[in-house]
Amino acid sequence: MVRLVQQSQQLLAQYLKPGDLAIDATVGNGHDTCFLAEAVGEAGRVYGFDIQQQALDAAWQRLDQAALAARVALYHAGHETMVQQLPSELRGQVRVVMFNLGYLPGGDKGRTTHLSTTLAALGQALELLAPGGLLSVMAYTGHPGGREEAEAVKAWANNLPRPPWYATLQVPPGNPHAPEWLLVMRETGSL
Ligand SMILES: C[S@@+](CC[C@H](N)C(=O)[O-])C[C@H]1O[C@@H](n2cnc3c(N)ncnc32)[C@H](O)[C@@H]1O
Repeated sequence: MVRLVQQSQQLLAQYLKPGDLAIDATVGNGHDTCFLAEAVGEAGRVYGFDIQQQALDAAWQRLDQAALAARVALYHAGHETMVQQLPSELRGQVRVVMFNLGYLPGGDKGRTTHLSTTLAALGQALELLAPGGLLSVMAYTGHPGGREEAEAVKAWANNLPRPPWYATLQVPPGNPHAPEWLLVMRETGSL
């Protein structure tokens, strides 16, 4: 069985092209950052955010080993500051923004993403997305606060104006603690 995280990467891999710009809003151990850096190719660029130095160190090591570090910029900062941190010319230019919520695997399980900063960051991600761009949010529901965060993310997506935003949700049946995957696409040629 292919896990939902792998499914998200498989879909986004078909979607990203060489030269694209992408954001990993929750770098963690760098698996998604590496995936994005591979997918955008040498001409592309990936910007990543995490609040934990431990995560950024692990991600840099992974990127270095894969010879992908040159196409990545990592910020030791909360994703809720991404618009402020990133060059202003990125607004409306980013093809994919990925969020993988929750805690750092192998790290402090108490340091999770939080509903209020997550919602602030999601709003900023929309400002950065290019026409036809995709926002991908993997929400985990099994840890304290995870279910509330996932429900808040879904409510946020449900309130987005259509057009230009089109949201879909994938929830594996039969397991109330499974991760839930939200995708929001910006209409092509809108705004
Ligand atoms: C589930 S992990 C991410 C996994 C990662 N995408 C990977 O491929 O390894 C969630 C990460 O979000 C980070 N995080 C928590 N709050 C954050 C915030 N406000 N801004 C950015 N990252 C945050 C945590 O430190 C943790 O490393």
